[in-house]
Amino acid sequence: MKMKTSIKDVSAPGDLILETEVDNPTLEVELPSKEGLVNSNEESFKCKLGRSKCLKSDEHRTTTPVIEVIDVKKSYTLGDLEVPILHDINLEVREGEFLAIMGPSGSGKSTLMNLVGFLDRPTEGTIIIKGLDINKLSDKEVARLRGLEIGFVFQTFNLIPRLTALENVELPTYANTRSGVNTHERAKELLKLVGLEDRMYHKPGELSGGQSQRVAIARALINDPAILLADEPTGNLDSKTGCEILNIFRKLNGDGRTIVMITHDPEIAGYADRIVLVKDGIIQNAE
Ligand SMILES: Nc1ncnc2c1ncn2[C@@H]1O[C@H](COP(=O)(O)OP(=O)(O)OP(=O)(O)O)[C@@H](O)[C@H]1O
Ligand SMILES: [Mg+2]
Repeated sequence: MKMKTSIKDVSAPGDLILETEVDNPTLEVELPSKEGLVNSNEESFKCKLGRSKCLKSDEHRTTTPVIEVIDVKKSYTLGDLEVPILHDINLEVREGEFLAIMGPSGSGKSTLMNLVGFLDRPTEGTIIIKGLDINKLSDKEVARLRGLEIGFVFQTFNLIPRLTALENVELPTYANTRSGVNTHERAKELLKLVGLEDRMYHKPGELSGGQSQRVAIARALINDPAILLADEPTGNLDSKTGCEILNIFRKLNGDGRTIVMITHDPEIAGYADRIVLVKDGIIQNAE
């Protein structure tokens, strides 16, 4: 069984309109059925998102850096041993850029993203987000910057099982919120935006993988962050659902949001503006 719905965002930034079926100019969205997500058609499916279909093309991109990683090193201490993971990483991501990070398993991609998203601290070096050096901020200021300016999407969704989709999306606002925003209404609008209008009161256990990832994307957007970080957001999804998630990202990027996405899939990475390769804790193709 397939379901159709039309979605138009009214509270998320700009005039963002999502079309998860790219061949459908009427903005009608075909949500895959649960059976469809298992996807018997998996092998023959190809993600066909033309880059030219990006709503606002490249005009939103500026030369202003929003993420600056300067001479960053990260080591973990295992017993008496210090194990270096990242070596002298230098990376600049500009406002409105869509950056893909690729590299072999264990090369340090998630470690790097966790540093940029303040989930961890570098052993050495500087990370500047929107002009603010996190080494110079208090823990409280870092928590606020992270809560308001960075949305994180994880491969395994990381939803709270006992909360509904709507409650999961609202959750970050208990820690940080922008003044004057009706967070409950915004959470509903974001769930509509990702095509989950009819799943708001479902718990994660009652959602498919693709639906769970959409909830996680809505949650990441609840505080209208400038930067969206996604660690293999399509890694647990079939190709068709992964393509729909990528389309959501492209539309968010088309609206000016900066996106950094880790992926193992060269086809998915091909839709980014730029691909950075990490190998053995070193960026291979630094500009
Ligand atoms: N908390 C930790 N303590 C010790 N070592 C860690 C820790 N977290 C990660 N590592 C090590 O750091 C290295 C890089 O891990 P990371 O998760 O960044 O890799 P990755 O490139 O994201 O890999 P994958 O593609 O498999 O997700 C790995 O060798 C891992 O074992
Ligand atoms: Mg990883």
